Formats: sequence, structure tokens, C-alpha cells
Amino acid sequence: MKIFIVGGSSGIGLSLAKRYASLGNRVAICGTNEEKLKKIKESNNNIKVYKVDVRNKEELKSAIDDFSKGNLDLIINSAGIYTNNRTAKLTDKEAYAMIDINLTGVLNTFEAVRDMMFKNNRGHIAVISSIAGLLDYPKASVYARTKMTIIGVCETYRAFFRDYNINISIIIPGYIATDKLKSLSEEDVSKKPTVLSEEEATNITIKAIEEKKEKIIYPLSMKILISIITKLPKRLLTYILMKQANWGKK
Ligand SMILES: NC(=O)c1ccc[n+]([C@@H]2O[C@H](COP(=O)([O-])OP(=O)(O)OC[C@H]3O[C@@H](n4cnc5c(N)ncnc54)[C@H](OP(=O)(O)O)[C@@H]3O)[C@@H](O)[C@H]2O)c1
Repeated sequence: MKIFIVGGSSGIGLSLAKRYASLGNRVAICGTNEEKLKKIKESNNNIKVYKVDVRNKEELKSAIDDFSKGNLDLIINSAGIYTNNRTAKLTDKEAYAMIDINLTGVLNTFEAVRDMMFKNNRGHIAVISSIAGLLDYPKASVYARTKMTIIGVCETYRAFFRDYNINISIIIPGYIATDKLKSLSEEDVSKKPTVLSEEEATNITIKAIEEKKEKIIYPLSMKILISIITKLPKRLLTYILMKQANWGKK
């Protein structure tokens, strides 16, 4: 298969890229951080690397076109940013970047491959959301709202892309022990409920894509937890989630 991973220079995206490449697929990734990209280029000659900002649709499209030459089996969007700062503490720059990368970046991914996949009458698009996007409560962060919105965006695109034989998978992970999550948790992710390793996340994601799942929420323990807490009254849910957000903070 030919696979392009948007946001594949670290974390979940890079882990998927390495696994797919090791299975004999032709894989390309993109990201913006030159240091990370250089390192991947040097140590993985089976992964093609592009420096692309997902906010720039034309840049993204030309990298995908260069790699795919008109034939792409799968594109995964794992590009996203998150911080520890809740809305009141976010700078306007951080808030705009979150919306532009996490939300517009997903739209750009769909738009960058649509003509090619329509023409080919096939393709698969997978987007990494987050369990944060399943929790609807007044104090949900800007990050959580972007992840909630992309679930709806994927459903809208699916309704239209289905006619062209294009599959869309929405991947909704709980906590994954990536370097980014660790750096926001002072290297200790043990307080995060149901945390999985990158390898475990990669296994589950690849299986879900293989099975053409429309939506997967994982791990199961987190899925069950979410289904219970989302039934709570909003005020109680807000109280619990705000408490949880402050765990371990000095
Ligand atoms: N880790 C978790 O617990 C968790 C849980 C649920 C959902 N998620 C979601 O999973 C995805 C990956 O998270 P992660 O933990 O693996 O974090 P990560 O290592 O920081 O990965 C984020 C990826 O997005 C790329 N990216 C950021 N801004 C970009 C831009 N403007 N243009 C192109 N690429 C850009 C980064 O590349 P550069 O740095 O090179 O730009 C990097 O490859 C995110 O969407 C996140 O919201 C993570």
C-alpha cells in the first residue's frame, strides 16, 4: 500500500509510519520540525519525509501528489497540538494555532486528496481525534472542542465520499504515552487513566483501519469510563473533570 501520514514526525503518527514501513508498505510522512524530520530521514530510509505545514493546503497537496503520483491507498491525519493550558490561560496565538492545525488541518487533508480519490474511485482516510472530543461540558478546552468538531467533520465527509468508495475512519484514543504527553506530565504518565503505549495504540489503529471501522474509541476501559461519565449531570461532570485536570499539579 501507499500510505501518507500527516503529522508523522513524532508520537502516534511516527509509530504508525514505522510499523507500516516495516510491513513492506510505501510510506511518507510530513511535519514542520526540521530537526525531527532530519532524524527520521537519517535513520529510516524506508520512510519518505516532507516538510509541510498542514495549515497550508497547497503545500500539503503538492507533497501528497509528489509521493503518490496519483495513487494513494491511505492517508492518516495525526497532526495536532495540545497544551496543559486551559482556555483562560491560552494565549490567542495558541488558540488560533489549535484551531488551524487540529481543525483546518483535517479539512485540508480531506481537500488535498479528494480529487485524486474521486478519480480513482477508492481510498481510505483516517483521522486521529481524542476522547477529549467526546466530553461535552461547559469548561471543555479549545483542544477538546477541536477534537469534538473533527468527529462531526469526518461524519459529514463520509456521507459524501461514500459514493466514491472512500472509507473514513475516526480514531478516538485515550491517553497514549508519547513523548509529547510525557513532556506535559513531567515525564510521569502514571496518573493518566488507562494509558497505553505507542505500540499498543499502533496495533489497535492498524487493525481498525484494516477492518475499515468507521469509528473506534480505545482502549475499551476508557470507552466504558466515558460512556458512564457522559451520563452524569453536566455540573457533576464538570466538577469531576476539572478535579482530574488538576491532579498532580502543584
Ligand atoms: N498522546 C495522547 O495521549 C493523545 C490522545 C488522544 C489524541 N491524541 C492526538 O494524537 C495526535 C498525535 O499526538 P501525539 O501525542 O503523538 O503528539 P506529537 O508527538 O506532538 O505529534 C503531533 C504531530 O503533529 C505534527 N504537527 C504539529 N503541527 C503541525 C503542523 N502545523 N503541520 C504539520 N504537522 C504538524 C507534529 O509534527 P512537527 O512537530 O514536526 O510539526 C507531530 O508529527 C494529535 O492529534 C493528538 O491530539 C493524542
